[in-house]
Amino acid sequence: MKNCNAAIVGLGGFAKLISAAIKESRKVRLIAGCDINLERLEKFKEETGIEKAYDNIEKLLPDSDIDLVIVATLPSNHYDIGQLALKSGKHVFFEKPGALTPHHITKLIELSESNNLKTSIDFVMRKNPLYFILKEIHDLNIFGLLERAALENYAHDDSLPPEHWFWDYEKSGGIWIEHGVHFFDIANWLMGIPKKAYGEKIPRETSGIIDRVLGTAYHNNGAVISYYHGFTKPEAFEKTSFSFVFEKAYAKTEGWIPIKLTIDAMVTPDIEKFLMEDLLIKARSYLPSVDLILETELLNNWSQEKTFMGRGKKYRATAITKFTYKLTKDRWEVYKACVRQGIEDLAAAIKNEKYMPDVTLYDAKKALDVALMMERR
Ligand SMILES: NC(=O)c1ccc[n+]([C@@H]2O[C@H](COP(=O)([O-])OP(=O)(O)OC[C@H]3O[C@@H](n4cnc5c(N)ncnc54)[C@H](O)[C@@H]3O)[C@@H](O)[C@H]2O)c1
Repeated sequence: MKNCNAAIVGLGGFAKLISAAIKESRKVRLIAGCDINLERLEKFKEETGIEKAYDNIEKLLPDSDIDLVIVATLPSNHYDIGQLALKSGKHVFFEKPGALTPHHITKLIELSESNNLKTSIDFVMRKNPLYFILKEIHDLNIFGLLERAALENYAHDDSLPPEHWFWDYEKSGGIWIEHGVHFFDIANWLMGIPKKAYGEKIPRETSGIIDRVLGTAYHNNGAVISYYHGFTKPEAFEKTSFSFVFEKAYAKTEGWIPIKLTIDAMVTPDIEKFLMEDLLIKARSYLPSVDLILETELLNNWSQEKTFMGRGKKYRATAITKFTYKLTKDRWEVYKACVRQGIEDLAAAIKNEKYMPDVTLYDAKKALDVALMMERR
């Protein structure tokens, strides 16, 4: 197989971004689309020039030109469509959450493994070089224990009228499942699944829809993570930050698709060199097509190495430095590049039987496990 031929099922808002992302790929080709909404189907044909447009998944699946099905319908039918696609021998890339229950994700895993098919899920943040930097810092224990993280996600609801499926638990699974999974996946990637988590749902005073949720997760390494999501802002005024507190550093990503990461850290010359050279070089090659720059600012320094105490531990530092890593493209370009990278990674796994995608349905299941803890189910 040379190119990987893909079809998108569900040609709504997000499919436009997926389609734009694939357009710039040299490894994956979009050759078909499917939607039960005929207007959307026509628009897809017009916008992409693609002739293979099916109004029903059952009509699409026998098309032997299609290697990979991208499931971009609403969450409540990811499982059914994924099952049908896997049963007909297609590899599958799922939009999140992939299913509404961990049990259904397990069934999808069983089905794909027993049919020797590859799957992945669109946890876009995993492909972002800024989260890769955090992962490296964590895994190499550069700044000690990650003791605390806090997500503040003030998201927009101006494209979500009251009748939108997003507000309907039966269709979306609610904010923790539909949206929270992205952030649980990042925390799981860093530290593994939390031992416990509790969430609260806050209804809007006027309509009763749940537009805000707040929860806390406790990880085995002692880290405590707070998550807040509020869908209450206009898009032009939304804001997101994810802060991470290590023993010797405060790190923060800004934006839901972040393009900036700041790290204020107590450093020695060795650590500074690592952040400015090795780590920068690695992060710059993490997402092809999006470059990264680094600015540094000395916040405090001492003429010679000093010893400090925290959490009953001693550590040495010569300075406190602010490292600001910035992606060189805007957030839409970064978003597209991250989606493309996820799909191309799956295409690489389809081509090479021994290669597994970086992000798997096992990750999707773990993220859903945390979402259900937050839901107290
Ligand atoms: N990864 C991300 O960053 C990200 C961002 C936004 C949305 N999403 C996900 O993308 C998915 C789609 O979201 P959206 O905002 O595009 O929704 P949407 O409502 O705009 O589009 C969904 C489309 O699916 C179609 N559809 C429904 N049932 C179908 C079926 N049985 N067969 C074929 N088509 C069917 C609908 O007609 C509609 O056109 C959701 O799972 C959402 O969570 C992911």
